[in-house]
Amino acid sequence: MKKKITIIGAGNVGATAAHWAMSRRLGDVVLLDVMEGVPQGKALDLWQAGPLDGFSGRVVGSNDYADTAGSDVVIITAGLARKPGMSRDDLLAKNVAIVKACAESAVRFSPDCFMIVVTNPIDAMVHTAFKVSGLPRHRIIGMAGVLDSARYRTFLAEAIGVAPCDVNALVMGIHGDNMLPLIRLANVGGVPVTDLLSPEKIAEIVKRTQLGGIEIVNHLKTGSAFYTPGLAAVEMAEAVLTDSRRVMACAAYLDGEFGISGYFLGVPVVLGEKGVERIIEFNLTSEERAALEQSVQAVAGQMAATGL
Ligand code: LAC
Repeated sequence: MKKKITIIGAGNVGATAAHWAMSRRLGDVVLLDVMEGVPQGKALDLWQAGPLDGFSGRVVGSNDYADTAGSDVVIITAGLARKPGMSRDDLLAKNVAIVKACAESAVRFSPDCFMIVVTNPIDAMVHTAFKVSGLPRHRIIGMAGVLDSARYRTFLAEAIGVAPCDVNALVMGIHGDNMLPLIRLANVGGVPVTDLLSPEKIAEIVKRTQLGGIEIVNHLKTGSAFYTPGLAAVEMAEAVLTDSRRVMACAAYLDGEFGISGYFLGVPVVLGEKGVERIIEFNLTSEERAALEQSVQAVAGQMAATGL
């Protein structure tokens, strides 16, 4: 049966996610926003690309949650985006209210959905949606690690001079400056990047990855990244919809994994039809563990600020 994907928020990230979802043939898409006309106009425009791109799914725009009923996946992108000089935390208060309303309404119409939260600050927003939606922990996740790992892989690939898709690398922890791009596990076709690049170059790439979002905000001035964030959410949705069991870094709810409980944090997860099928634990070095602990502290502060 055809799958149904709802994307809440028809801004840059939401509309781009809709575009990727259609071109990846994920199913039918409902693009929902509170702004009248915007989701309808963007969806109509995107639908008309079907004859050219070859997709036959339907994409509709709506302001009414009733149209989202029975969705298999709900992707929440609604909320304010960063402007130069703003941290992701500066968005927290406003976006808590928005994400709360979106998650509550979405589960009312799609109680069995798999929910992907993209709104920033992601780790706190997925916690917010988890609290208000009542979804079990394996049915809700935050998008961050897929995006951050893609940035890390892109920069490593450029420095080494290889195809980006042949670079394997993992970014764990918070979607913020304390994120943890793992160095010793990054490899190109199985060869460690530490054998291919100098420690100074790797340190530069790690820093650029950690500040990858703000680098784009500073160029754009009026908003933040959307092509890769949109595709990252769609990659995650696709893994669930196709039961592929792909391994991706996502903000998953930890219940003892890595010795951490009660927080959503970026870790490698297996995504399949049940949602988060498994969190892949492995041994961290003492340095990596200390860096992950910094992420936990930062997420704890954000969580407290949500008041949930
Ligand atoms: C970024 C936003 C999505 O990292 O946080 O570009």
